[in-house]
Formats: sequence, structure tokens, C-alpha cells
Amino acid sequence: MQQTPGPETPAQGTPAQETPVQGTPSEEAPDSVNMSAFEDTIARDQRIEPRDWMPDAYRATLVRQIAQHAHSEIIGMQPEGEWITRAPSLRRKAILFAKVQDEAGHGLYLYSAAETLGADRTDLTQRLIDGRQKYSSIFNYPTRTFADVGVIGWFVDGAAICNQVPLCRTSYGPYGRAMVRVCKEESFHQRQGYELLLTMMRGTDAQRAMVQDAVDRWWWPSLMMFGPPDDDSPNSARSMAWKIKRHTNDELRQRFVDMTVPQAEKLGVILPDPDLKWNEERGHHDFSTPDWDELKRVVSGDGPCNAERVARRRAAHEEGAWVRRAAVAHAAKRTARLREGAVA
Ligand SMILES: [Fe+2]
Ligand SMILES: [Fe+2]
Repeated sequence: MQQTPGPETPAQGTPAQETPVQGTPSEEAPDSVNMSAFEDTIARDQRIEPRDWMPDAYRATLVRQIAQHAHSEIIGMQPEGEWITRAPSLRRKAILFAKVQDEAGHGLYLYSAAETLGADRTDLTQRLIDGRQKYSSIFNYPTRTFADVGVIGWFVDGAAICNQVPLCRTSYGPYGRAMVRVCKEESFHQRQGYELLLTMMRGTDAQRAMVQDAVDRWWWPSLMMFGPPDDDSPNSARSMAWKIKRHTNDELRQRFVDMTVPQAEKLGVILPDPDLKWNEERGHHDFSTPDWDELKRVVSGDGPCNAERVARRRAAHEEGAWVRRAAVAHAAKRTARLREGAVA
């Protein structure tokens, strides 16, 4: 694998016997020796675990990425959550309820993974509601009709699967293991969305028009979910070298397009890109360039719903303060009772 450049990279020929055994505490070892063990673990496609030495920049990159991912899961509950009370049947309500609840669970696995790196969950939440940490740009778009629930499942959870399946093999153990369970649930999310759309497409003209309208509005923001193009993604190369990321933004975007085109044909909707066509030579679909200025605007806080999403999250956090206080008081009482029992 490509060696990570930097001042801590050991000189070639560092004696092998100086490399600490994987997983042993290594505070006393020089950083150059620890770096060599770290790079060796990455090169052998093995996992870095919380107890292992890791470069500060690797830890910081992971905390940032996992926190953004966790925030996206939690904020991502809002656009669809708005439709729980308005779902057209009890069956759809139960499915949507389960799906939104899953997203809360994904957030919890991910905050726990960030905690194994020394991050503090209260601090991460504060950073989200202060606007100091980001979440996926896709959740700053409004859900106008119930067809949006289906299209989010199909596109947004589909894009999440493209992103997250390779993350099951990411180099940091707790993050990769969290992704295994998350991906199973994302697969259910995508299918429920597609099944909902199939049902609507077999319905009335008005329902078909509603699906097409939702497809038109969500297609481009979904392509933007994979992040900026590779030549404008400064941290990608280092994340690839550390095997945090396994594929570039553009590779994942292409995979998503290739996966979605036949599904759109089967569904009977038109993806809103006149230049979308199969390229025999490349063995992939060609497609137009997304509006990267729009992505920059939405990421920097100027999307249709940024203020609303963060305000809702802040209000939920403040309204939930008494639950956190009660949980802490309950835990303290329980600990005291256990201690009394131990003494008696
Ligand atoms: Fe999720
Ligand atoms: Fe999901």
C-alpha cells in the first residue's frame, strides 16, 4: 500500500524487531516505531483497534467522519419523520416508523464508535447544534409529498448502501463492525422505498405524476451525496491511503448511477438527465455534471432546510434535558444501592 507521507514516517530499513506486537501498549515506544507498526497493520489489511497506537491525524479524520455520519443518521430522521402521522395506511405507518427508528439506532452505533476514539458524545451533539460539525447535504431538502418517502428510500438509502458497504472493510475496527449491521438495515430501507414506488406507479395518473416529480427533485441532490468530484476532494487521497475510504467519491457516484438506471426503467420513471446514457466503451453510464455550486451552498448552510433541521435538533436536545438528568439520577441511585448491597 501507499506509504503515508509525513514527518513521522520511519526511514526505510527500520529494524523489524523494534516493531511492537500488535495491540500491546506502546506509550514508551518512539512514534516512528509505532508509526511503522500502524502502517504495517494497514498494509496487511488488518484492523486498527481502539487500544492500538494511531497517528493523531488518523484519529482526528475518523472522529470527524464518524461524527458527520452519526449526525446524518440523526438529522436524517426528520425529513421522513414528518410523514409518520400522515402515512396513508397503518402498514405504511408501521414501516416508516420502523425505518426512522432504525436511523436513530444507526446514529447511536456511530456515536459509540466515535467514543472509542476518545470523542465525547455530549461535545459532538453540541458541535452539531452549534453548526460547527456537518451532516449530509441531502437532508436539507424538503419532503413535499408521500412519494418523497419512497424516493428517499430508493435513492438516499441506495446511495448510503453504495457508500457504506465498502466501509464494512474500513481500517478502523469499531467503525467497520458498526457498518455491517447498518448495511443490513439500509437494504430493508431501500427495498421498502422501491416497493412503495412500485405500488404508486400501479395506481392513478396523479400518483405516477407524484412519483416522477419526487424523482426529478431528489436525483441531483442524491448524486451530490457522494461529495465533491475527486479533483476537488483534498482529504480523499489520505483517507484512501489509510484505507478509511476504499473508493473515491466519483467511483461510488458511478456505481450508484449504474445501479439505479435499470431500476428506474423497471419502475417506469425518467431520470432527469438528457445526457444519461450507456457508454459501451467504458462499460458505465455517462451522466451530466451535478451543480457543484449548489452542493457548496447547501453544505455551507444555505440549503432549503438547513436552519429548520438544526433548530429542530436543538429543540429536541433541550426538551430532552430532563430525560438525561433523570437517567443520571437513576444511575446514581442504582450504583448507591449496589454499593450498599455489597457492604451489607
Ligand atoms: Fe441509516
Ligand atoms: Fe436508512
